[in-house]
Amino acid sequence: MRIALIGGGYVGLVSGACFAEFGSEVSVVETDGNKLVALREGRVPIYEPGLDRLVTENVAAGRLSFGDDLAAALTGVDAVFIAVGTPTRRGDGHADLSYVYAAAEQVARALTGYAVIVTKSTVPVGTSRRISEIMRATRPDLDFDVASNPEFLREGSAIADFMRPDRVVIGAETDRAREVLRRLYRPLYLIEAPIVFTGIETAELTKYAANAFLAMKVTFINEIADLCERAGADVHDLARGIGLDGRIGRKFLHPGPGFGGSCFPKDTMALVRIAQDHGAPSRLVEAVVAVNDARKAGMAARIVAACGGSVRGRTIGVLGLTFKPETDDMREAPSLPIVARLAEDGAIIRAFDPEGMEQAKPLLPEGVIYCRDALDAAAGADALVVITEWNEFRALAPARLRAAMRGRVLVDLRNIYEPSAMREAGFQYDSVGRPVG
Ligand SMILES: NC(=O)c1ccc[n+]([C@@H]2O[C@H](COP(=O)([O-])OP(=O)(O)OC[C@H]3O[C@@H](n4cnc5c(N)ncnc54)[C@H](O)[C@@H]3O)[C@@H](O)[C@H]2O)c1
Repeated sequence: MRIALIGGGYVGLVSGACFAEFGSEVSVVETDGNKLVALREGRVPIYEPGLDRLVTENVAAGRLSFGDDLAAALTGVDAVFIAVGTPTRRGDGHADLSYVYAAAEQVARALTGYAVIVTKSTVPVGTSRRISEIMRATRPDLDFDVASNPEFLREGSAIADFMRPDRVVIGAETDRAREVLRRLYRPLYLIEAPIVFTGIETAELTKYAANAFLAMKVTFINEIADLCERAGADVHDLARGIGLDGRIGRKFLHPGPGFGGSCFPKDTMALVRIAQDHGAPSRLVEAVVAVNDARKAGMAARIVAACGGSVRGRTIGVLGLTFKPETDDMREAPSLPIVARLAEDGAIIRAFDPEGMEQAKPLLPEGVIYCRDALDAAAGADALVVITEWNEFRALAPARLRAAMRGRVLVDLRNIYEPSAMREAGFQYDSVGRPVG
């Protein structure tokens, strides 16, 4: 089969490479000149484990190509996937659909025959119908179907998520569209991955409901962690105690500094607006957004308190900047408000992240010192803060970390260390939702 993906970001690139690996012939259309140059030179412009190998192999096999020539990319395609960004619209929290609608219009102009136009971007309910209207208005003669195929991959494990998904959701209304998508995902039938066929509105809303539910789970355990701290309970034991209940499940019960990333913050916010627009407001999701925003904003105060009430002139080592490990994505990362506030309060910041430092530099205050590695970030620091739980931080020897520092404060916002081991090493150790011992 032959397909095109519009947008070569995290989702477009991973989906494109994986569809190529499934055996389809894939053209990825990208308008960002820098990304395109990198891709054509064989460099993958994002950090995603395993992606460079997958891209290289499929380019070499002639199944995957990159370009900005839409007409060439769309020649003879069975399906066109729209995988452009849908960021939060400035001012009102709605999803900004300008990239999606612009792509739809461009695709309508360039198509020469029947294709299924599939929305892979996360879009509010009703968007695929609007895409259909835009395309029909642009090219009344065109034969096409629209479909919704939301993407559930996670950055950091995106390839495995795409190749072995828990499920694929496809919203389509014609047999022809369903057949095209069924054939594209045929390799997944072999591993018995469930393919859930729905109506278009249901597929669009399923993505928001899934993300809002997961964001709610994270926010729930964060609030319970606060309660554990005050009540002398341990949130890890509690999470195990509830998570082993099959109705609850163990995933997404890890307390931390609040969720960030390119999806949960914008998608919860967009769902709030979608629900309000439909006259069915979601007070639960509204609370999740508010509680999470307050949590991220309040984390710096926790660090200041651990430092005795002031960080002016103090050196703070920061381990991890990206919103989660195994990605270089800095979108809505908790490190952003934390570092900004600590710097504003007069702290000297020594930061290290294994993959995200280049992306972080334009977003963090001037004056932040970017370090070679974790021990370099700890060198001479009065306090050390773990913001992202990269595996390499877990492996650090407590005594070496302690010896590198001037002070002894360690604020572990991801609970990656064993409290007793850190206290034995001489740290004043603060972690989330565990009793202070
Ligand atoms: N990142 C994730 O983990 C993830 C997971 C699931 C779903 N999603 C959703 O997928 C969508 C894309 O997310 P992303 O993280 O890949 O975004 P991204 O910003 O990394 O990538 C979007 C790309 O589209 C390109 N683009 C925009 N308009 C274009 C056009 N007209 N023609 C060609 N290219 C164009 C941009 O230059 C950019 O490279 C969003 O709706 C997001 O919510 C993201």
